[in-house]
Amino acid sequence: MKQIILTGDRPTGCLHVGHYVGSLKQRVELQNAGKYDEIYIMIADAQALTDNAEHPERVRHNIREVALDYVGSGIDPEKSVIFIQSTVPELHELTVYYMNLVTVARVQRNPTVKAEAAQKNFETRMPVGFFCYPISQAADITAFQATAVPVGEDQTPMLEQCREIVARFNAIYGETLVMPEIVLATNKVCLRLPGIDGKAKMSKSLGNCIYLSDESDVVREKVMSMFTDPKHIRVSDPGSLEGNPVFLYLDAFCKDEYFVEFLPEYATLDEMKAHYQRGGLGDVKVKKFLNQVLQEELAPIRKRRKQWEQREADLMEIVRQGCARAHEKAAETLSLVRHAMQIDYFS
Ligand code: TRP
Repeated sequence: MKQIILTGDRPTGCLHVGHYVGSLKQRVELQNAGKYDEIYIMIADAQALTDNAEHPERVRHNIREVALDYVGSGIDPEKSVIFIQSTVPELHELTVYYMNLVTVARVQRNPTVKAEAAQKNFETRMPVGFFCYPISQAADITAFQATAVPVGEDQTPMLEQCREIVARFNAIYGETLVMPEIVLATNKVCLRLPGIDGKAKMSKSLGNCIYLSDESDVVREKVMSMFTDPKHIRVSDPGSLEGNPVFLYLDAFCKDEYFVEFLPEYATLDEMKAHYQRGGLGDVKVKKFLNQVLQEELAPIRKRRKQWEQREADLMEIVRQGCARAHEKAAETLSLVRHAMQIDYFS
């Protein structure tokens, strides 16, 4: 069986370091490992519109930003097909058929839908399209016959729901759809990188993100303003690592070689943590080190992103061709689906 990746992001803003360690970095590693026959990376504009119907300009603008973030992060258009969801009409058709295989109660139980509905204060004003997006996501995944879906941990309920749809479809109409597996980041701390304010999630609306497109001075300012242990007042005070974003970011980004380069008094992050917990290590020093680490990690991404910005027309042409290839692939799957469902009347 072909090994195929399908994944994507909503274009509601620029991608940030939480996206990067949570999934983007791994997508690039999977891409470069060369074990996949086909890789599709989707900019999920139709899904973004499910709660942005009044803001089409926002979605449109962020197509460009997300495409730049992808290639900046190392998604290679030679190896991965980058495309835009709404340009593949088969996805919408599949969604309609899958809607018949899912109960309203099942979608209502989806924890991610619940959490987002609460965050957006939908109460009685939830758009039907938004309610159905887990079903449309199952269409995205199955249309490409994806075997692997590298995503952030918050997408776990979407994958579960997709797998149920696949099982049900195949049980009713015969073995047709491919059962996908979720692929999560292996480093635990990367699953949910907190915001710079220490809040559980990095999110644009909370203004607590470090973006992949942030200039180096912006990154430095954000790092230096990060929340740490509020009880760690004097340098000599013992500090706590628990929920301390500065150390969580170091867990996500630091490599031992950065100590050799920037802070040779420690050999490993564990040594540095022990000193912090003992007392005698100030937050400013830790933040300065984190800033150096982040600058090293983000500089190549920012540089590549800028190079692509200079060739924006080329990038859009690449995406246009990606849309055509995605459309072709999804059409193949749809003809299998239509046949299985006995709605292939004239073939
Ligand atoms: N839900 C994803 C997000 O919030 C975007 C997305 C849409 C997606 N369809 C998908 C991700 C299919 C993986 C597979 O960013």
